Amino acid sequence: MISAQNKITLNTDLAKTKIDKHIYGHFAEHLGKCIYGGMYVGENNTKIPNTNGVRNDVIKALKDLKVPNLRWPGGCFADTYQWKDGIGPKAKRPSMINAWWGGVTEDNSFGTHDFLDLCERIGAEPYLAGNVGSGTVKDLTDWVTYVNHPTGSPMSELRKQNGREKPWNVKIWGVGNEAWGCGGNMTAEHYSNIYRQYATFMADWSNTGGLYRIASGASDGDYAWTETLMKNIPHNMLSGVALHHYSVLSWGDKGPSVDFTEAQYFKTMDEAWKMEEFVTRHSTIMDKYDPAKKIALVVDEWGGWYNVEAGTNPGFLYQQNTMRDAMIAGITLNIFNNHADRVRVANLAQIVNVLQSVILTNEEKMLLTPTYHVMKMYNVHQDATLVPISIESASYEYQGKKLTAVSASASKDATGSLNVSLTNIDFAKPQEVTINLRGEDFTKVSGQILASAKINDFNSFENPNKIAVQDFKGAKLEKGVLKLTLPAYSVVVLNLKK
Ligand code: AHR
Repeated sequence: MISAQNKITLNTDLAKTKIDKHIYGHFAEHLGKCIYGGMYVGENNTKIPNTNGVRNDVIKALKDLKVPNLRWPGGCFADTYQWKDGIGPKAKRPSMINAWWGGVTEDNSFGTHDFLDLCERIGAEPYLAGNVGSGTVKDLTDWVTYVNHPTGSPMSELRKQNGREKPWNVKIWGVGNEAWGCGGNMTAEHYSNIYRQYATFMADWSNTGGLYRIASGASDGDYAWTETLMKNIPHNMLSGVALHHYSVLSWGDKGPSVDFTEAQYFKTMDEAWKMEEFVTRHSTIMDKYDPAKKIALVVDEWGGWYNVEAGTNPGFLYQQNTMRDAMIAGITLNIFNNHADRVRVANLAQIVNVLQSVILTNEEKMLLTPTYHVMKMYNVHQDATLVPISIESASYEYQGKKLTAVSASASKDATGSLNVSLTNIDFAKPQEVTINLRGEDFTKVSGQILASAKINDFNSFENPNKIAVQDFKGAKLEKGVLKLTLPAYSVVVLNLKK
């Protein structure tokens, strides 16, 4: 049965807010096989083609994806990371224990130069997460100086000795991570003071308009955390306040990544939709202290979190990625786009082999997940102008409970063409959608779709292209009205031209 209660109106005349490309950011932590044995296979690896140790297939996939920024080295790991152990000749670098993630020994062969060079190669802005939990103010100041100071300081000279003449001019900096938990178990009041102290000594020499300093933010609906930070941190030293939200069934038993039931699917979608409430309510608090919206809400960790795959290290957070994950991505990115006035940076957790990854690797093999395809389809919105929409959506119902079935967002790009992204999370029902263009005289429509026969379909190393983007020819444009049918659990992105 097709549901026909979905009506969208595009208010092109009200388009004014830029959708910051940084909403489409990613996150690479020293966790499991994200860095070591994932993106980074080492310079001496003769089996897997690489550039300075980073897999060439990963580099290409990330360039194609248009990754705007990449957050590193954590997560919880960031507040344990001694960056000075990751510079200089690799053979002389001390090793360390990754205490948060599996207790494994790391040899520090992937460090600051490796990361920043990778960012340059894929065209992403680096987002460095500073160690506030266990590092000193001087460590962080030195890191900023090492990567950004042009010449003549001890740190810039050390950088040059290590082979990099010009500074990288890193703009985006996290001042700690999850300070309420793994970043130091601090109270919001205490962290506000710590933030003020660390941020004071992070200076800028890069002529890029100053450092973009992000305070470690709330988890989910901890609104008191956001309020305390907005009240206590001087706004001239604060560019963004973070927020973390994972779509997780329960922290005790997160359920399987592939063989989930409809009950588990419904709960995951419910969790994904909660992002709307969290973003709205954290923004409302920020509006009270910053009505001009100068400070961004930075959702620097989001995504689906399930039980690890059988036989894998529980500390490595390795999970498969199905059409359910494509749904999380579709809904979440629409939410971020529609809140582009306040949400200006976000980072999917995580980029390779950890949680809701866009890429999975296994020795020589690599695959792109359904989430990769959604992120790529949606990248047409990067730096485009948000077109506000109003939407009446049918419900996806399960055992008497309801969720909004169809989510959407739209933007106008520099050429004047319009892109509309739509996600139907319904477990079984296709949804008919009518889009009113309110007199805008678009004449051509084209589109792409991501869909699959089963909600728990995924791309495997044996069948890496089972789920792939297809052309979508099902949208009909007549007298300023666009009509289409979204299959159950599908993502469609339409492009309209005059
Ligand atoms: O992404 C995995 C972990 O989740 C991060 O290290 C931490 O910040 C969060 O709790």
